[in-house]
Amino acid sequence: MGALEGRTAMVTGASRGIGRAICLRLAAAGASIAGLDIELDQLAETGELVREKGTEFLSIEADVSSLQQMQKAVERTTERFGSLDVMVNNAGITRDNLLIRMSQEDWQKVISINLTGVFNGVKAVSRVMMRQKSGSIISISSVVGLVGNAGQANYAASKAGVIGLTKAAARELARREVRVNAVAPGYITTRMTERLPEESRKALRAQIPLQRLGEPEDVANAVLFLASDASRYLTGQVISVDGGMAM
Ligand SMILES: NC(=O)c1ccc[n+]([C@@H]2O[C@H](COP(=O)([O-])OP(=O)(O)OC[C@H]3O[C@@H](n4cnc5c(N)ncnc54)[C@H](O)[C@@H]3O)[C@@H](O)[C@H]2O)c1
Repeated sequence: MGALEGRTAMVTGASRGIGRAICLRLAAAGASIAGLDIELDQLAETGELVREKGTEFLSIEADVSSLQQMQKAVERTTERFGSLDVMVNNAGITRDNLLIRMSQEDWQKVISINLTGVFNGVKAVSRVMMRQKSGSIISISSVVGLVGNAGQANYAASKAGVIGLTKAAARELARREVRVNAVAPGYITTRMTERLPEESRKALRAQIPLQRLGEPEDVANAVLFLASDASRYLTGQVISVDGGMAM
């Protein structure tokens, strides 16, 4: 029997990259999946892949920066599956530029998806999980939120914010047996990092003790651990999955 048999997981940013890998990993462990995204074609593909693992997939069009849409998504999920045991706040974007050139719009856009989006996700599932007296909330931060990165002031601030939010929520929800943790990936091969020129990728590899970029499945494995009872005594933690970049 899989570690998540009979449980329901909601994953934001489920259409591709790390979000898709998380859906597939949790589905392989037996969870029914509610996948949220704004890109529906690719979301349907994730759905097909999840169903191949033998579990159900509910596809939901929702923008994480809207609290109302997130609350609606949670309602639909609990109506369909009867419970919501795992929430993975994964959706995120970059709008990189040096601080002096960064527009307020690019600052705001990244904060509203990467940080307010996580607040919306945590808030939307909290009531359900508190009532159930069980649940695991996992948010995807970044190594950049821990150590910073030139050209990513907006992204670094949003990802550091996710860590503070995770710890505050962990303290608030612990007495109801709801655990709240974060995963901080390093550089993972997805569309987000594919755009980097080969030279930057080479420079990147030089900063990684394990000397290679990570795969989406490496992040998904850490998420599965945090989602399952194997991590039942962990809350308010940040697990780095970064080949040793931040230590
Ligand atoms: N790739 C990396 O190296 C890396 C490293 C550290 C952290 N992360 C984080 O991991 C997460 C996933 O990244 P990825 O590399 O898979 O990126 P990606 O761009 O491949 O996928 C992001 C997904 O989020 C969706 N999305 C974007 N805005 C949304 C919104 N407003 N509402 C709902 N969905 C939205 C996109 O449609 C897409 O499906 C992000 O939070 C990212 O910051 C990635």
